[in-house]
Amino acid sequence: MTNPRIKSGDEHEDGGVAHLDVGEGNPLRKRYMKSFVVGRVDELAEGERRVISCNGTEVGVFNVDGQLVAWYNQCAHRGGPVCQGRIYRQVREPVNENGETRTLQYDAKRKNIVCPWHGWEFDLRTGHHPGGERFALRRAKLEIADGHIYVIV
Ligand code: FES
Repeated sequence: MTNPRIKSGDEHEDGGVAHLDVGEGNPLRKRYMKSFVVGRVDELAEGERRVISCNGTEVGVFNVDGQLVAWYNQCAHRGGPVCQGRIYRQVREPVNENGETRTLQYDAKRKNIVCPWHGWEFDLRTGHHPGGERFALRRAKLEIADGHIYVIV
């Protein structure tokens, strides 16, 4: 498996600026968010990912069993490039009626991504670390329009 390369996302020029919905008088009101083109929806097949740089902010977009999710490329442990890690079905260790474990199994419903720096794993669909929600990936906003995927940062 090759390490996914980061490609530069094109800034969406036509109406691609999404303003933050903050109240009047809020100092954040003048800040704005921009959308970046990830690609066409049909280009990101099931199981694939695309990691793009949005003016220096890296985001990974994944097709997880037909569902699109996006995470900032920053691990909850020490900020490693988690979106470029290997993806596996979650490994389970079933305990039998005698309280013994004899084998390991893949969980058909859950996929984890493994950060390449120190091996922390996160559920690719929820972003949560198996040890709890306290450690989680930061979700990036996605939009689908005209058959294209956009990341908003
Ligand atoms: S930075 Fe990701 S596991 Fe340490």
